[in-house]
Amino acid sequence: MIAFGTYEFVAHRQCYRPPVPSFPKLDDVWDALKAADLSTQAFDRALDAFPVRNVVGKLFARLDAVHSSGAEGSTTTFTDLMEYQTVLKRAPDVGDARQVEAAAVAFDDLALDSTEPITAIKRIHKRLFEHSTDQMKKEQAGRLKTYPNGTMDPDAANGIFHYCAPHSVEGALTEWRELTLGSDGKPELLRQALSHWMFEHIHPMNDGNGRIGRLLVPLLMKQKGALNNACAFLGESVYHDKDIYIEALKNARRSGDMLAWCRTFSFLVNQTARNNLERLRKLGELYEDWLSRAKPIRSHSVAHRLLPWILVTPRFTVRDATAFTALNGDRTTFAAINIAIARLRDIGIVELEGTARSNRLFGAKEVMSLFEVVGVRVPT
Ligand SMILES: Nc1ncnc2c1ncn2[C@@H]1O[C@H](COP(=O)(O)OP(=O)(O)OP(=O)(O)O)[C@@H](O)[C@H]1O
Ligand SMILES: [Mg+2]
Repeated sequence: MIAFGTYEFVAHRQCYRPPVPSFPKLDDVWDALKAADLSTQAFDRALDAFPVRNVVGKLFARLDAVHSSGAEGSTTTFTDLMEYQTVLKRAPDVGDARQVEAAAVAFDDLALDSTEPITAIKRIHKRLFEHSTDQMKKEQAGRLKTYPNGTMDPDAANGIFHYCAPHSVEGALTEWRELTLGSDGKPELLRQALSHWMFEHIHPMNDGNGRIGRLLVPLLMKQKGALNNACAFLGESVYHDKDIYIEALKNARRSGDMLAWCRTFSFLVNQTARNNLERLRKLGELYEDWLSRAKPIRSHSVAHRLLPWILVTPRFTVRDATAFTALNGDRTTFAAINIAIARLRDIGIVELEGTARSNRLFGAKEVMSLFEVVGVRVPT
């Protein structure tokens, strides 16, 4: 099947070189695209209006990292990740949690600046693999692939479809960057749909291409000014509908027709944005409720200052809370924070997790229940 794109032989392997895909007719994709656009923009505006800063980075990008990694077989849940981020650095599978956190940290790192996209993919890859226990992956962290990589495909020769040949990656990425950064008035989400398709077919790194490609979508939508926040995620939908996502990527290659892929991509982005918008709405209601429940606590208690932080840090120890207050130049003592947390426990905002007597872990279950991934391993 050599209908679309070209093939190059590397050590008897047929490696696919994707072309720069053409935009489908706007009329044909318009309904799906418009729906995705409206949802992401509604989510973007709601984030701007939200009373607590950086919910997108602290919660939604974390959730996306859990989903996007979960789609690739990771077992770390949102609850696990929140716990791993405390001073305890604890998780059922520490190596797995570290990788999920790395995807989230890559988001933090890149959401703030306008890194050139080829540098960005190397930076994300470095974050993902620099601490890998697999020595080869660790050495390759942040570098383009040097060996052909592929995936099972019953239609391909020998049952494996090979992505872009290593020697062609730089050239293909240069074309990809031009497509990705283009600005000729085409809808940005449509451009990023095509960019994602091309990126996954180049598959420039030895591993992590799915997670990197999905992370680029929100980052580029923000960088290109289509949204204020890097919030056009698709990890959650890919996690739930991975087969549809992969089939659509494949079918577009087989037919050369980008329409169905662009519609699927729009659907995935739309679905994730709608779910996130609903989560944010509930989070806002919860915060209002917390503020009114906390009113009886004396006004100069640090408990009030902790509330917005707990909303975006729903698992923590007293040491974490002390570090947070110190960051803001506040000299509140460990003992005073302990007392404030006890007040917040009295009104049901936080609960003690587990039975440890030192380094006690606290959690805000109401936040956690909005973000925990349904269907993934039950958190321990
Ligand atoms: N047949 C295919 N054609 C094009 N792209 C594909 C195909 N199958 C998978 N992909 C893309 O490749 C990604 C998986 O690639 P890769 O392994 O490099 O990334 P990853 O994030 O490490 O995922 P994994 O943990 O599964 O290995 C998928 O998420 C998808 O985006
Ligand atoms: Mg992989």
